[in-house]
Amino acid sequence: MTMPHDSSKKFLSDLQSADPVIHAAIGREHEREETGLELIASENYVSRAVLEAQGSILTNKYAEGYPGKRYYGGCEFADQIEAAAIERVCRLFGAEAANVQAHSGSQANMAAYLALMSPGDTMLGMSLSHGGHLTHGSPVNFSGRLFRVVSYGLDPATERLDYDQIRELARREKPKVIVAGASAYPRIIDFEALGGIARETGAHLVVDMAHIAGLVAAGLHPSPLPHTTYTTSTTHKTLRGPRGGLILVGRGPSPGETLGTAADRLKAVNSQIFPGIQGGPLMHVIAAKAVSFGEALTPEFQAYQKQILENARALADALMSQGFKLVSGGTDNHLMLIDLTASLDGSISGKEAEAWLDQAGITVNKNTVPNEKRSPFVTSGIRIGVPAITTRGMGKAEMRQIGVWIRQALQARGEAAQLGRIRAEVRELCGKFPLYG
Ligand SMILES: Cc1ncc(COP(=O)(O)O)c(C=O)c1O
Repeated sequence: MTMPHDSSKKFLSDLQSADPVIHAAIGREHEREETGLELIASENYVSRAVLEAQGSILTNKYAEGYPGKRYYGGCEFADQIEAAAIERVCRLFGAEAANVQAHSGSQANMAAYLALMSPGDTMLGMSLSHGGHLTHGSPVNFSGRLFRVVSYGLDPATERLDYDQIRELARREKPKVIVAGASAYPRIIDFEALGGIARETGAHLVVDMAHIAGLVAAGLHPSPLPHTTYTTSTTHKTLRGPRGGLILVGRGPSPGETLGTAADRLKAVNSQIFPGIQGGPLMHVIAAKAVSFGEALTPEFQAYQKQILENARALADALMSQGFKLVSGGTDNHLMLIDLTASLDGSISGKEAEAWLDQAGITVNKNTVPNEKRSPFVTSGIRIGVPAITTRGMGKAEMRQIGVWIRQALQARGEAAQLGRIRAEVRELCGKFPLYG
């Protein structure tokens, strides 16, 4: 399409005048983020530096390939940026090699699986209803459609991972890959035990540390790297970078003779990302990833992760003292799950709780609980995480207050005046912890 000269200028103008519809919607989202309590465990607020890199002119650049080996000209600065992202993330997690091009956590998992399995092979993953992710073998996801999936879950008594069950399943089913990591699991994951099971049964261990990557980076959760063939992650949760994925080459043993060296592992997974499942990398996102990895290497980031753990424990205690039952009785990480079947009068569904809290300015998501009786669209639980409110600077006193608001909002059972009163108090608190101004 040829563009008349003066209209091309319009496309270089400010968003407000070029597209008032989108500008206004972004403005309202900004207001929502500033004035509400974000308790979705997988969300966070990036720094202005990350926003600036992601909103940069790098979005214009095609750079298919990898640093030093591109299929397009003009990639010298793209090379510098991607090399910096790789070097920083390797330093952060003590990895020998990394791929930072995965567009998302799902793509990172897909590339890791395809580097290790062929369609029809068996993988062992955590069941979605017990806290695993869709990409860990759900039948509606590519993972469940491409591979033969066997699922593991929680011990019904302790509501913690049942490592004996995982071992038994691995011995019986002989999976090529065991995938560990979760979207809704509040406890430490024993990667060493999982590594032992993988070694004994001849499987590759893939850990998806998307939720806990920030804690791992700060040394506050054991690292999976010594036990895995690949460790995957998103970059936007506790790690507090832009939305995206990454793959680290792990140091775990290799079953058989294949993929024994870090170089072999990197080559296999790089070729699955490109040309396997993606085209050109998103260079603006890779630049933003590099900035966030740089931030994560600072002592301030370590202090932030420590505060996440303190806040999560404080909020868990506050909720339990307000009459809520938490799955597994508490938390070791950044999130917790309320089991509504055993909280307050036991009648509230996850869907109702999510809607009522939303009206009070508190954003959470409904979540299945172990032994769930309701559908995934209704559920009997809610998942709550503290990474975003911790980024705002909130601490223990605010966690106690949030526990009270959550009880009040649910007991109000949708009553508009009470939810409106809490909404006003939430807004006032958020005003004391501004985000971007
Ligand atoms: C454990 C885990 N892995 C992978 C993903 C997928 O990440 P993305 O949404 O970037 O595809 C998520 C997202 O919530 C997750 O919780």
